[in-house]
Amino acid sequence: MSDSPKTSVEMREVRLAFDEKEILTGVSLAVPALSRLVVLGQSGSGKSTLLRLILGLLKPNAGEVMFNGLNVTRMGRLRLNRMRQKIGMVYQYSALISSLSVRDNLALPLEELTSKPRGEIDQLVDEKLTMVGMADARDKMPAELSGGMRKRVGLARGIIMDPELILYDEPTAGLDPVISSVIDELIISLSEKIGATSIIVTHEMESAFKVATHMAMLYQGKIIAADTPEGFKASNDPVVAQFIAGDTQGPILQATTS
Ligand SMILES: Nc1ncnc2c1ncn2[C@@H]1O[C@H](COP(=O)(O)OP(=O)(O)OP(=O)(O)O)[C@@H](O)[C@H]1O
Ligand SMILES: [Mg+2]
Repeated sequence: MSDSPKTSVEMREVRLAFDEKEILTGVSLAVPALSRLVVLGQSGSGKSTLLRLILGLLKPNAGEVMFNGLNVTRMGRLRLNRMRQKIGMVYQYSALISSLSVRDNLALPLEELTSKPRGEIDQLVDEKLTMVGMADARDKMPAELSGGMRKRVGLARGIIMDPELILYDEPTAGLDPVISSVIDELIISLSEKIGATSIIVTHEMESAFKVATHMAMLYQGKIIAADTPEGFKASNDPVVAQFIAGDTQGPILQATTS
């Protein structure tokens, strides 16, 4: 569409502290519409926190978070709920509701947030499950699925509302290399099929370079690098280079152990 904005998400000098501890100390980041941005960062650096700020589940202490040119920081509950219908979230541990079948897990947002008739909802559920290759699991309970299958169902649920933006928190963590590749390919094909922007948080380098069109690195409360994957690979920044190489020598461990 011609009126779609060029920037999906923008953060400006975002600061956030939990109790006394400053986790984000001035994060600035622009996510171009339809890009797939991979956010890299150490465990505990605040990656999940960034995603929660975008969803408006957390308010920053300072700075601004924008989605589609609208200020998330200033939205009331009604506008936040409306905005969240445009954002799909894929959680680190799938977060499926264990007492509901796969079909009912996927149908839930449609039943709660739309007035679509059951037949149409079933059709949408089948369509999304087919996209992730899980059509056969429709009537299964989450406990009957393997970790990789649960992740795929989590992906299908994340896109059930045809979101403009999909947030992935560690989509391949703990999966075997083959299933990880399947998930990576799904992230790419889903973003293309439904025309969505994606923000993917991960510390798995192979996945990162496979799916990213853009990369950003969160370190000590700030985005210290934002570039193309090629730019990251060639980076002279010692933190970026160490993180990508998974090296024990370099500034990262020195900073956390000193
Ligand atoms: N609700 C909260 N209350 C207090 N502290 C929190 C809260 N949420 C996160 N934190 C702290 O903020 C820091 C960043 O957490 P976050 O979950 O964003 O890290 P992360 O980069 O996603 O880590 P991981 O890679 O391990 O998932 C951590 O030190 C964590 O303990
Ligand atoms: Mg996290």
